[in-house]
Amino acid sequence: MTATNRQIFLIERPQGMPDDRHFKLIESPIPDVEDGQVLIRTLYLSVDPYMRGRMSDVKSYVPPYKLNEVLTGGVVGEVMESRNQNFQRGDIVVGMLGWQDYSVSSGQYLTKIDPEAAPLTAYLGVVGMPGLTAYFGLLEIGKPQPGETVVVSGAAGAVGMVVGQIAKIKGCRVVGIAGSEKKISYLLDELSFDAAINYKTTKNIQADLEIACPNGVDVYFDNVGGDISDAVLRFLNHQARIPLCGQISMYNLEKPDIGPRITTSLIKTSSMMKGFIVSDYAAEHPRGIVQLAQWVKDGKIKYHETIVEGLENAPEAFLGLFRGENLGKQLVKVANDVR
Ligand SMILES: NC(=O)c1ccc[n+]([C@@H]2O[C@H](COP(=O)([O-])OP(=O)(O)OC[C@H]3O[C@@H](n4cnc5c(N)ncnc54)[C@H](OP(=O)(O)O)[C@@H]3O)[C@@H](O)[C@H]2O)c1
Repeated sequence: MTATNRQIFLIERPQGMPDDRHFKLIESPIPDVEDGQVLIRTLYLSVDPYMRGRMSDVKSYVPPYKLNEVLTGGVVGEVMESRNQNFQRGDIVVGMLGWQDYSVSSGQYLTKIDPEAAPLTAYLGVVGMPGLTAYFGLLEIGKPQPGETVVVSGAAGAVGMVVGQIAKIKGCRVVGIAGSEKKISYLLDELSFDAAINYKTTKNIQADLEIACPNGVDVYFDNVGGDISDAVLRFLNHQARIPLCGQISMYNLEKPDIGPRITTSLIKTSSMMKGFIVSDYAAEHPRGIVQLAQWVKDGKIKYHETIVEGLENAPEAFLGLFRGENLGKQLVKVANDVR
């Protein structure tokens, strides 16, 4: 055990794109464990786009991070000491914990995971929160039917790569939109998407969508918003469904974005656009995990992870999400699993 607990604090609220100034690594003593608590050593932590929203002092579905406190997010860790009857030393757990070497938890919202059932990192990705977001957003709102066309933006990221593969399992034509040639190759060659568009290099995204979606769009799984979504929404079929998952293109805007008014196109096509948060389906997560794990085991869902080493690099890994540096799920490895 290292003698100190390194922690990453948010020390200033970003306006626009965050940078190094907004984060600080500090060292404090390893916390004491009281009755009912467990001490957890962080093995992997997840960086996620929604954290950007929590860095601003605005009302949302989760409260903002407090300044000069440790950032929190999804963590897989090992129980080092337990004074809680539900956990034992050596248990591997997943939960919402700090960007730090060691966390103390009451055990609430901490789930024991089976390291034999799936790699530890998968519990923060394909069978964790992002996988569940894809699963419930696509199946409960998108309701893809065989032969339909499903378009997904942010297609080569943690959520998008799973969305496209579930749509393939459901017998759909799948079109991905992503921001690099490496990502386009991954979608086409590894994940068997039917078409993929590089929104950064395309000369005309409308024309590319017309070729990629000859029968229009039945489901648009929106991870990014902005110009990309404006383009896709022109191709909606009758009774199309649009799960609104994320709007990452707008998370760092300093002024509100004014886009085209889309409501008429929703009326004309009798389409449904619905926002959702993965926790809306919390009661059903267990069945989602079982199904995702089975698809992974059967080779029907593949996944990629981009893993940065070192707690000190967590802020850069987080910022990389907005530069499109991650292929698949972005994680930070904090310590070796030494069981
Ligand atoms: N509703 C929910 O419960 C829920 C849960 C999880 C995630 N989400 C949302 O789902 C989306 C994807 O999340 P994720 O965890 O899977 O992240 P991710 O896709 O793994 O990583 C973010 C990706 O977004 C793309 N991106 C960044 N800036 C962009 C821009 N200006 N325009 C277009 N694309 C941009 C980048 O890929 P490119 O190289 O392709 O640009 C980047 O790799 C996010 O909007 C997130 O907030 C929602």
